[in-house]
Amino acid sequence: MAAPNSKVNLPRCPTGIEGLDNILDGGIPRGCTVLLTGSCGTGKTTLGLEYLVRGALAGEKSMFLSVTEASERIIENLSTFEFFDKKIIDEGRLVFIDIPILYEKLGLTKQELTPEDIDLLIGAIVDLASTLKIQRLVLDSVTSVCFRIRHEEKIRDFILKLGKSLSDIVCTTLLVSEIGPQADRYSLYGVEENIADGVILLGNMQRHGDLLRTLQIIKVRGAQHSRAQYVIEITPLGIFLAPFLKGGGRESTNNG
Ligand SMILES: Nc1ncnc2c1ncn2[C@@H]1O[C@H](COP(=O)(O)OP(=O)(O)OP(=O)(O)O)[C@@H](O)[C@H]1O
Ligand SMILES: [Mg+2]
Repeated sequence: MAAPNSKVNLPRCPTGIEGLDNILDGGIPRGCTVLLTGSCGTGKTTLGLEYLVRGALAGEKSMFLSVTEASERIIENLSTFEFFDKKIIDEGRLVFIDIPILYEKLGLTKQELTPEDIDLLIGAIVDLASTLKIQRLVLDSVTSVCFRIRHEEKIRDFILKLGKSLSDIVCTTLLVSEIGPQADRYSLYGVEENIADGVILLGNMQRHGDLLRTLQIIKVRGAQHSRAQYVIEITPLGIFLAPFLKGGGRESTNNG
């Protein structure tokens, strides 16, 4: 089924992170591509993994595309979370793909990817997603792929084509974007956020000697959502959101 061009009134893909689903009015519109952006250690990988695991536990097929970290290490860390059940990997409901291995298989050995290389890469990702009937996908990180694309126009084209192809198979996608702590934009090249259907910003904030993690939804096309800043906590039970209190920092409840 092809997702309609209009992003209005699409069914939702619940992230499974309760507070986040509350502020997203039920979840991410299905088939949309959302940029999950933030500086180092803000929780991008963890949020992406929880989104996939919660989906897989609910019966949706999920795929994690890893560029910089080996899958084994990611799975090792994932095993420390209580919401994770290895069964979902054994049963093929959560699939890990190492992008460097995919590059090798496709013969993409040159440092800079040509437009033909980019088409090959998109084709391979979409083929995998389509064959495995993937409904949720995380690319961690799109920034690392863009390093090898380099030029704004080609990056724009890559994200547009990838997003469109995944939308056509109604796969709801998080593209992890890495930025510096003081960045004044949401992606390294500044084009990714304009093309993505949504942007979720994760950050760090100093508060009374504590380094808090924050989350803010910048945009989600066709959806009503809060733009308030939230505090997030990464715990063995998963990610919890609490409203950001200007005076004190956080409330103790998980009520988005
Ligand atoms: N199993 C765990 N239990 C509790 N907290 C964890 C666990 N795993 C990671 N964390 C917390 O999450 C933080 C890192 O989060 P994560 O790796 O998701 O961030 P990131 O934004 O992806 O970072 P990077 O930019 O380096 O890729 C760690 O510093 C740690 O505090
Ligand atoms: Mg990460």
